[in-house]
Amino acid sequence: MIGTAGNGVRIAITGIGAYAPERVLTNSELATIVDTTDEWIVERTGIRERRIAAPDQAMTDLALPAAQQALEQAGVPADAVDYIVVATVTPDAMFPTTSALLADMLGARDAAAYDLLAGCTGFMYAIAQAYAMVASGLSERALVVGGDILSKIIDWRDRATCVLFGDGAGAVVLERVDHGGFLGFELGADGAGGKHLTLPAGGSRLPASAETVAQEQHFVRMDGREVFKFATRVLVSSAEKVLAECGRSVEDVDVYIPHQANVRIIDHAAKKLGVPRDRVVVNVDRYGNTSSGSIPLALADAAAEGRLEPGSLVLMTGMGAGLTWGSALIEWSALGGKPQQAPERIG
Ligand code: ACO
Repeated sequence: MIGTAGNGVRIAITGIGAYAPERVLTNSELATIVDTTDEWIVERTGIRERRIAAPDQAMTDLALPAAQQALEQAGVPADAVDYIVVATVTPDAMFPTTSALLADMLGARDAAAYDLLAGCTGFMYAIAQAYAMVASGLSERALVVGGDILSKIIDWRDRATCVLFGDGAGAVVLERVDHGGFLGFELGADGAGGKHLTLPAGGSRLPASAETVAQEQHFVRMDGREVFKFATRVLVSSAEKVLAECGRSVEDVDVYIPHQANVRIIDHAAKKLGVPRDRVVVNVDRYGNTSSGSIPLALADAAAEGRLEPGSLVLMTGMGAGLTWGSALIEWSALGGKPQQAPERIG
């Protein structure tokens, strides 16, 4: 699916929020849990540490502070939000939805609220949906949250997966603006490749049972090499498609925010696309792969570092389970409609 913003409608991100749990898990500490080393993890992934949620923290506990921060920056009271979508594969529970619980916590009484499941690409799908809702006039002010607590569905004895992931969430507010905004999106899916990254049990195919737990089918299973090949391919093809559709070239891109899975995947994509390293946002070293939280956390970091100037061309591309991928191209506009303010990081 590909499309450009049309009809003179301008919709932009007017507030950004982020939250990562306080607990830092370093590679050296991981090496006391599984047979690995700091050197191996840094060399193969670029990850140095990740945040891990407390046992009593669920997705809404990460989503709430991120959402509150985004709303505050946008200057939008919670009861003025009419649309909330939370992209996550680790909701508090399958239902009630995390978004409905979040709407209640925020006091967004008039908001439609639902969760969206698209693996690590969830945030990209969610902002495309929110864009379409605001563009159509169905929504005035949309809140999009992307986040995951993958630490709760990871096998902490599997060194091939547990070193890669971390917990975190980010949020953005989407509204109509006078200048800049989203220029286009490209989204895709390949279910044939879905088998390379799965959570086998807990759905209608394999309901949770004592047997599925005994067989450890409630943990993430991944063919790392296949996912690596897929990721390096789609990060490039999706970005090229959205740029071409919007009539822009890679030289025009000021800030490139790829999914933060592995620094080797990011470097490969940036090199193949021709984006200079100083235009690439990288924080996988500090957070690991936070799934749906990855791109909004990186966006919040870019804002905090003063890298998002009004008029900058921002390219974001995500990829993940499904298999899925998605890109968005944005002409950046001032947050909150006021001069740019960096969001204060929590946690
Ligand atoms: N510590 C030490 N050794 C390890 C570890 C570890 N943590 N993990 C694996 N190894 C070993 C393997 O057992 C293997 O040993 P062997 O050669 O004796 O068999 C060796 O290291 C090499 O393994 P590879 O899998 O070839 O290592 P590779 O360089 O491909 O890196 C990695 C593995 C990091 C998983 C890589 O394939 C990758 O990043 N894949 C993409 C993963 C990803 O991004 N997933 C998320 C997608 S997004 C979403 O929706 C969740």
